[in-house]
Amino acid sequence: MSAMVNSMRLDDIYRSLEADIREVERELTRVIQTDHPLLNESANHLLVAGGKRMRPVFSLLAGKFGRYDLANLKKVAVPLELIHMATLVHDDVIDNAETRRGQPTVKTKWDNRIAMYTGDYILGQALSLAGEVEDPRVHQVVSKAVTEMCLGEIEQIRDFYRWEQTTSRYLRRIKRKTALLIAVSFHTGALVSEVPADLTRRLHLFGYYMGMAFQLTDDVLDFTGDDQSLGKPAASDLRQGNITLPVIYAIHCADGRIRNPVLRYVQGDHSLSAIDGAIEAVRNSGGISYTNQLAQRYLAKGFALLEKMPACHARDLLEQLARFIEQRSY
Ligand code: IPE
Ligand code: IPE
Ligand code: MG
Ligand code: MG
Ligand code: MG
Repeated sequence: MSAMVNSMRLDDIYRSLEADIREVERELTRVIQTDHPLLNESANHLLVAGGKRMRPVFSLLAGKFGRYDLANLKKVAVPLELIHMATLVHDDVIDNAETRRGQPTVKTKWDNRIAMYTGDYILGQALSLAGEVEDPRVHQVVSKAVTEMCLGEIEQIRDFYRWEQTTSRYLRRIKRKTALLIAVSFHTGALVSEVPADLTRRLHLFGYYMGMAFQLTDDVLDFTGDDQSLGKPAASDLRQGNITLPVIYAIHCADGRIRNPVLRYVQGDHSLSAIDGAIEAVRNSGGISYTNQLAQRYLAKGFALLEKMPACHARDLLEQLARFIEQRSY
């Protein structure tokens, strides 16, 4: 039910952009086509499965603060969704995930080798379309987001089971793996639309706040959501050894009934009962509401920034999207 309410809200928020989003979809379909039958099928598999398409929408909305030209904006909005999709295909190999967007993952439907090259192919097509943008600043910020994402993901692997890691280490990781690409979605939309430099900086920063809140809520949903509404496996981060903020909180709980089951698991007992006990303890720890509160603090910074931007329909939609991130269940 809550998923339905949420999904209706996202559709509602997107309504006034419907025609332009359809155009982005057409371009995504066109760009991903290839004569190679296997690659064509594997690359299209994730595209047709859907997804929230938040990154291209963020680019379009940033464009509304300048000289909005859909033909120009498509050259960043479409590559951003493709880059995101490429990272999802790879992420599901790394996270050993069976489902994505409610469908079997590429690595499950085919195998890891096909998934690696499907991801690379989608990334290549993203770069090919982005190549049509002349402004070198666009290429610089996009490349930076992709390289930072790799650093964030590799640090995450290195930090697996490191129960003594700090919150700031976690925050740096999620900035790299998620927030920066969302910031860059705003940034590039603004650049191709000749948004004034000051406002472009604000839009980038707004995207960073949204991105941080987005990954914080993703990490909460891993504990509170279910496979069906998420369209991907729930309760999987800790199973992989990924210590997210709710876990860090639980590890620091004064109450041994919360702290001890988590420590038992992260310090080496990987039996099924230990992992189930740890997940249950995190769910009951207060780490969920602590993480939600931190997400809300990032969103509040975003709302404060919005007030410094010109009042317009796009600004209202950004506010609604921030509310969506706050309440989302998928
Ligand atoms: C999933 O992103 C990966 C994260 C950064 C948490 P989304 O939740 O935006 O995935 P789709 O595009 O809607 O499938
Ligand atoms: C997403 O992190 C980070 C990416 C850059 C892909 P997750 O591993 O938490 O994403 P989901 O939960 O599988 O979508
Ligand atoms: Mg991952
Ligand atoms: Mg994952
Ligand atoms: Mg996740």
